[in-house]
Amino acid sequence: MTERRGRFISLEGGEGAGKSTLLAGLRTHIVGQGIELVQTREPGGTPVGEAVRAIVLDPRERGVAAETELLLMFASRAQLVREVIAPALAAGRWVLCDRYVDASYAYQGGGRGQPFARIAELERWACAGLVPDLTLLLDLPVAMGRTRAAGRGEADRIETEADAFFERVRESYRARAAAEPARFRLIDAGQPPQAVLSAAIAALAPLFADNAA
Ligand code: TMP
Repeated sequence: MTERRGRFISLEGGEGAGKSTLLAGLRTHIVGQGIELVQTREPGGTPVGEAVRAIVLDPRERGVAAETELLLMFASRAQLVREVIAPALAAGRWVLCDRYVDASYAYQGGGRGQPFARIAELERWACAGLVPDLTLLLDLPVAMGRTRAAGRGEADRIETEADAFFERVRESYRARAAAEPARFRLIDAGQPPQAVLSAAIAALAPLFADNAA
């Protein structure tokens, strides 16, 4: 019998949505099922991707053009897909990625106004057809997220944007989730962390069922 490919899960959300807390809970849950899990993040996840992350999120880099920012996100992603995600899935491992291509549609598309068609073109080129099996979107009103995120240390370059930017990011995420209901699960991130984790675990259930098949 041919071994089934692993599962690819991405996690998205705005500032202060609780991604880190949820990632830790999901990791424990998935590994607890005896599954080999690779956890990674974007931008970053490879040596070259982490170097790109340091540049693109550096708050001292004031004059980064929107086009440059978009290309840097995809440069990191092209490497991550080839070096980490595709080999892990081919080996039957599961991949849990802290952000993936939807973040570019939300931040560079919605937030910065880069054309969605251009982003789709980059996706076709850079992502080698790798689409998550499941994307969890932690959704939270912008003001609530910003209050939660305040006092976490120095803001990165993108976190210094105005509320209007994050409103556009949120709307773009929600529009993508509405357009692809089979892939996305929108989770109310205003709930207590345990309820957020339960909702995420429920959304994962079909992936485990497929795995057993
Ligand atoms: P975070 O993963 O720690 O939340 O930080 C990553 C930052 O990079 C966050 O502000 C979102 C931003 N980002 C983009 O703007 N576009 C992208 O494609 C990705 C992956 C992240």
